[in-house]
Amino acid sequence: MKRDFLTLWDLSSEEIDILLKRAIEFKSGKDANKCPLIGKSIGLLFEKASTRTRVSFEVGIYQLGAQAIYMNPKEIQLGRGETIHDTAKVLSRYLDAIVIRTFSHGTLIEFASNSSIPVINGLSDLHHPCQAIGDLMTILEKKGRLKGIRLAYIGDGNNVANSLIEAASRMEIDIAIACPEGCEPDLDVLERARAEAVGEILILRDPREAAGMADVVYTDVWVSMGQEKEAEEKKRKLKDYQVNNRLLSCAKKNAIVLHCLPAHRGEEITDDVIDGPQSAVLDQAENRLHTQKALLEFLLGNNTR
Ligand code: CP
Ligand code: NVA
Repeated sequence: MKRDFLTLWDLSSEEIDILLKRAIEFKSGKDANKCPLIGKSIGLLFEKASTRTRVSFEVGIYQLGAQAIYMNPKEIQLGRGETIHDTAKVLSRYLDAIVIRTFSHGTLIEFASNSSIPVINGLSDLHHPCQAIGDLMTILEKKGRLKGIRLAYIGDGNNVANSLIEAASRMEIDIAIACPEGCEPDLDVLERARAEAVGEILILRDPREAAGMADVVYTDVWVSMGQEKEAEEKKRKLKDYQVNNRLLSCAKKNAIVLHCLPAHRGEEITDDVIDGPQSAVLDQAENRLHTQKALLEFLLGNNTR
């Protein structure tokens, strides 16, 4: 039976533990010359721009011995009106897995339910699970544990925030989101996470309260891809939610700062924080490569379709 990775709920906490251990092995150089996915072909269907997700998948796929095939929907028949249903069924006959970056999360669900190959969410308007797995690895690497970690997310309750809430819930991290009214995380995500969580999930208005005694301070852009029309309104609402040195001083002294990138410096985060000694954003970006290799090996390693 094929396995998809559309949200964090598609993996159990035990499976996430296994993936993180494997990613740490990959990072250490273990199995650098092994090619567990030799002969396989993995599609990358990207409807939105990407630097990290695209390049880390392409490099990781190559390192595992497989080939990556990048597709822009505008350049395949999907862009001329061929249905998702037909595209999913046809691509399943050629490819061994597909990574999709799209607007509506429903597109991913429709694609996955019509394909016989694993579908990986490379970002939708609602979720960014590959990012969250890389973030977990970074926290584990820097803090030595996940359970009981206090994570403060400051800013827009977007796709990245939603996946972080799910990741926190799976791994017993206490998460506090500070956001203004109208920028809350998705309600369904919150409801399920609260039902499953062992740790705390708080939605606060005061960024200082959320950052108080945090081990990890995380932020993301105020205007996500596809939200350009609401840009001015969102920037106005979020102007008091900047991660700067004053806010960071509320967190623990050894707190780390994460940002999925790309950053809008001077908006959600200041230069001195993102370039400062507590920032782990470059390790965080690198860890996308190692965790996605572990994910691909997990989903495809023993896959006989
Ligand atoms: N963090 C992240 O997913 O970056 P890209 O948009 O560059 O892929
Ligand atoms: N929230 C951002 C994340 C980019 C990686 C966006 O969706 O544009």
